[in-house]
Amino acid sequence: MDKIVIRGGARLTGTIKVAGAKNAALPILASSLLAEGTSTFKNVPKLNDVSTMAKLLARLGCEVDHARHTVSVTAPSAKRAHLEAPYDLVKTMRASVLVLGPLLARYGRARVSLPGGCAIGARPIDQHLKGLEAMGARVKLSHGYVECSAKRLKGARIVLDIPTVTGCENLMMAAALAKGHTIIENAAREPEVEELGHVLVKMGARVEGAGTHIIQIEGSDSLQAVEHAILPDRIEAGTFMVAAAVTRGDVLVENTRPEHLDAVISKLRAAGVSVTSEKGGLRVRHSGALAPVDITTQPYPGFPTDMQAQMMVLATVAGGQSVIKEAIFENRYMHVPELVRMGADIHVDGRVAVVRGVPKISGATVMATDLRASASLVLAGLVASGETEVLRVYHLDRGYEKIERRLSKLGANIKRVKA
Ligand code: EPZ
Repeated sequence: MDKIVIRGGARLTGTIKVAGAKNAALPILASSLLAEGTSTFKNVPKLNDVSTMAKLLARLGCEVDHARHTVSVTAPSAKRAHLEAPYDLVKTMRASVLVLGPLLARYGRARVSLPGGCAIGARPIDQHLKGLEAMGARVKLSHGYVECSAKRLKGARIVLDIPTVTGCENLMMAAALAKGHTIIENAAREPEVEELGHVLVKMGARVEGAGTHIIQIEGSDSLQAVEHAILPDRIEAGTFMVAAAVTRGDVLVENTRPEHLDAVISKLRAAGVSVTSEKGGLRVRHSGALAPVDITTQPYPGFPTDMQAQMMVLATVAGGQSVIKEAIFENRYMHVPELVRMGADIHVDGRVAVVRGVPKISGATVMATDLRASASLVLAGLVASGETEVLRVYHLDRGYEKIERRLSKLGANIKRVKA
């Protein structure tokens, strides 16, 4: 297994371009199952999770052409479709569950391995299934798989207990080919949900309100293939912004949509970091002390849970005391013991982490456990004195394309050591 070796202390300066959004690419690739013909997606990030989704689509009978940042997908005819998402793929990427809605809507049947939990929590899919049942699907759980069937889904009014992101996306895709009108209330408002809505409309679906808490969809009898370029990854952008802040650098994070980062920008500014819009990006500059920040993760547009681990590194090297509450996932503090081994002062009690700033942290060999935890360990290595080795970087490769090369272009002393 590869590892990343960082010698901390360098100020990051220069320009870094944000890649396409992983959490938009995954549902949008799955949506190609709904369309007749070949859909082509550009600005797709080159990530392990994207490769897994491409593999899964091929396993389902799609023709998939995966060039560097462009993916073309031709969904199969009903007789050539293989309507099963197997455990070996779903266990490596729980977002595989996103094929459930489109398979059911397009082909009338789907057998998808239950994703199971992951490092950050149980992550059930009860809301996905509740919505599909409301649309007339017969849902059966057996042998670790969910089996759904429906002659044709019917539009329904669905009130989600939780504004689940992929739950909402699954139901939007199912509704797009259902008969009649669907209303999804308490919908997730993430930009990636809104982006999926744009793609469905391009396919010929009638979608209103994607990106708000009420989404209305009038089902179509068929949908057409599309061309679409994936929007920039707001979490990758936020990660680079924190890297600039903690290294007291001056970085232009290019190709970002500031309006998708309001909560992150306001917390960075509260910490004393300068964040200004410049040339289609955000310029992040900082020198001197960082102020503590209190954070509670929330569904969008609140502070994103996917940025919690990264901000904990900023709190660690800031002055004073910061209180961080992880209100979305039940176990998203796996980075804490590793940061403490580097000298951080963090006490976790249930969902709350109290972080006391320390004058410095020191490099150590640390273990990545999940995608954003591994990003926070890289950030900590950038600012720690001495050398940090981050092991199990396959977690990092799920969500960040060539991060060590891109950070080294900003002056970081970082390299990947092949296993
Ligand atoms: C999406 O996961 C993202 N993944 C996650 O990003 C992100 O952390 C999460 O949304 C929250 O923003 C993708 O978009 C591929 P949820 P998702 O369903 O959809 C509970 C990353 O690092 N819940 O919104 O799986 C669930 O347990 C990843 O890029 C139910 O109880 O998250 C969690 O506590 C990590 N029942 C909360 O809701 C359900 O049926 C939010 O989960 C569904 C969810």
